[in-house]
Amino acid sequence: MTLSPTSPTTSVNSAAAPPGSAEGAGLTLRDAVLGRPGAPVLSGVGLEVRPGEVLTVVGASGCGKSTLLRTLAGLLPPLGGEVTADGRPLGGPGGGRALVFQEDGLLPWRTARANVELPLAIGRVGRAERRRRAAEWLARVGLAGYEGRLPHRLSGGQRQRVQLARALAGQPRALLMDEPFGALDAQTRAGMQQLLVEVLATTRATVVFVTHDVDEALFLGDRVALLGAAPDAPVRLFAVPRPRDRAAHETPATAAVRRDLLQSLGG
Ligand SMILES: Nc1ncnc2c1ncn2[C@@H]1O[C@H](COP(=O)(O)OP(=O)(O)OP(=O)(O)O)[C@@H](O)[C@H]1O
Ligand SMILES: [Mg+2]
Repeated sequence: MTLSPTSPTTSVNSAAAPPGSAEGAGLTLRDAVLGRPGAPVLSGVGLEVRPGEVLTVVGASGCGKSTLLRTLAGLLPPLGGEVTADGRPLGGPGGGRALVFQEDGLLPWRTARANVELPLAIGRVGRAERRRRAAEWLARVGLAGYEGRLPHRLSGGQRQRVQLARALAGQPRALLMDEPFGALDAQTRAGMQQLLVEVLATTRATVVFVTHDVDEALFLGDRVALLGAAPDAPVRLFAVPRPRDRAAHETPATAAVRRDLLQSLGG
């Protein structure tokens, strides 16, 4: 399966990222079949996620967005074809790729701090360093003072901030986000988008961000990938004229891409 033409984009974060931060991973699917054994969802998938870019993913409900993300996370081995990170087959979860879910991604019996520390503990980061990083990231997402709270005592937006802190505390090379702001009200969602943009300016992580919301896709993404409704439809890629610029929302260039995306989604 071939890719739609793409235009070059600069990565969001390499310019501003601290020199010590890890380079974003390049993720590639070639003629890949995705889904569960005996139940393929997408076939012939070709897609190249460039190191350091933000690729947003849209498509009709049930078309396979979460399947794609779980495959990239290493949770669903490809049923065929090739899925690689920096040219090497994924080989299971981990590998510097962090997932953020729509909701309920936190362990309910662990405090915010303990949730953020968990992947660090699994990665054998020492206790003091875990504490330090958890405190630092919780503060960066605006949750200083909330470290000891259990998830059910946090708002939906705060829980998503903890998830973001947990994902980023592990210094991932790829951040995979599955409708992370989908359950939030419009105002909280806009605030979370802004927070994400600010936080990404300090990392070089590659981001794959699934959303139902075309405007969110056009705000956050360097490019938007559109998954077709048919299982073997090629992934279509759209370059975003002015990524992460709210002022671009009403420009003719953005409006044209939005129209194209909405038309493709609508039928
Ligand atoms: N655990 C599962 N077992 C079997 N089939 C599944 C499972 N999860 C999803 N599917 C099927 O795989 C297909 C793709 O699902 P997926 O969750 O990837 O879609 P999606 O694009 O993320 O949808 P949405 O926008 O509603 O989140 C659907 O037909 C769905 O029914
Ligand atoms: Mg989904």
